[in-house]
Amino acid sequence: MKQRNKILITGSGGFLGTRLCRHFEKMSEYELIQAHREQPDLSDQEGVLRFFQTVRPDYLIHCAAISDLRACEEDPKGSYQVNVEYTRNLARACSSYGVKMIFCSSDQVYLKNGVQTPHQETEALKPPHHYGKQKMEAEELILNHLSDAVCLRLSWMYDFVKLSSWEHDQLYVILQNALKNHETLSFSVHDKRSITCVREVARQMEKTFDLPGGVYNFGSENQYTTYEVVGRMLEIMNADPAVIIKDEKAFSDDPRNLCMDLEKIRKYGIDLQDTLTGFQDAFERFINQ
Ligand SMILES: NC(=O)c1ccc[n+]([C@@H]2O[C@H](COP(=O)([O-])OP(=O)(O)OC[C@H]3O[C@@H](n4cnc5c(N)ncnc54)[C@H](OP(=O)(O)O)[C@@H]3O)[C@@H](O)[C@H]2O)c1
Repeated sequence: MKQRNKILITGSGGFLGTRLCRHFEKMSEYELIQAHREQPDLSDQEGVLRFFQTVRPDYLIHCAAISDLRACEEDPKGSYQVNVEYTRNLARACSSYGVKMIFCSSDQVYLKNGVQTPHQETEALKPPHHYGKQKMEAEELILNHLSDAVCLRLSWMYDFVKLSSWEHDQLYVILQNALKNHETLSFSVHDKRSITCVREVARQMEKTFDLPGGVYNFGSENQYTTYEVVGRMLEIMNADPAVIIKDEKAFSDDPRNLCMDLEKIRKYGIDLQDTLTGFQDAFERFINQ
C-alpha cells in the first residue's frame, strides 16, 4: 500500500490552522500531524529536531505566529521570538530532515513601500511595523536555509463562521454582528487590499507543495476600495447597505494599497478567485450547504 504523505501544521488551533486541518483531514492521501503550542516547544531547537526525527513529516505548513499587529507593536521582543526565532528553528529542522516548508507570510510586508499598483514579489520592501519586519526577516532566513521553501504572502482572510470563542472576529462575522445589532461600521475609501476567503486558501494549499522555492503572493486580487468591497458584499448578502458608512479620513494623507498581483503563482497553475467573485461563490456555497 502506498504510504501517505505526512503534513505537519503548526498553529493548528488558530484561524487558518483549523481550516487547513479540516480540509486535509478529509483527504485520505495525507496523514495530518497537528502541532500545538506545547508540542513541540518551538523555542527548543533540539526538541524541534527530535520531534521531526520521530514524526518525519513530508511537508510543514507553518501557521504559528503572533499574527496581531498591535500585539507585535506592544511586545516586539516576544513577537520576534515567535515570528522569527521559532521559524528559524523549524527551517533548520526542515533542512535536516528534507521537509518541504510552506511558510505563512503576509501582505503587510508591502506596507508603505511606495508602490500604488498591485504588488509584485520582486518589489523592495520597507514595512514600518514590527509584524511586517518580522515576516520579511523570516522569509529571508527561511530561504537562506532552504532553497525549496515556499513563502506565501497571505492577505486579510475571512470565513463565514467562527470556530471557537477565542477566534478573532473577521470581516463577515463583523458584518453579521453589525447587522444583527443595528450598528454602523465605517470603511475607508482610501484603502485597497486583497481580501480572501480562507476556504479558498485551504483548497489551493495542496498545490503549493509543488511550487519551486521562493516567495509568492497568495491572496485574492482586488481593484476596489475596502468601502466598495464591503458594499458589494452586502448586496450579495441581500443585506441592508446602511450598515456601512464611508470613512473619508482614514488613509487620506497616505492611501494604503495592499493589493497583490498573482501573475507569478498563476504561471504554476494556481489561481485564486478575485475578492468579489470569491465572496459571491463562497457565500452561495455557504448558504446552500
Ligand atoms: N488571518 C489572516 O487574515 C492572516 C493574514 C495574513 C497572514 N496571516 C498569517 O497566517 C498565519 C496564520 O494566521 P492566523 O490568522 O491563523 O493566526 P492566529 O489565529 O492568531 O493563530 C496563530 C497560531 O499560532 C500559535 N502560536 C502563537 N504563539 C505561539 C507560540 N509561542 N508557540 C506555538 N504556537 C504559537 C497559536 O497557538 P494557540 O492556538 O495555542 O494560541 C495559534 O494557533 C500567521 O502566520 C499569520 O501571520 C494571517
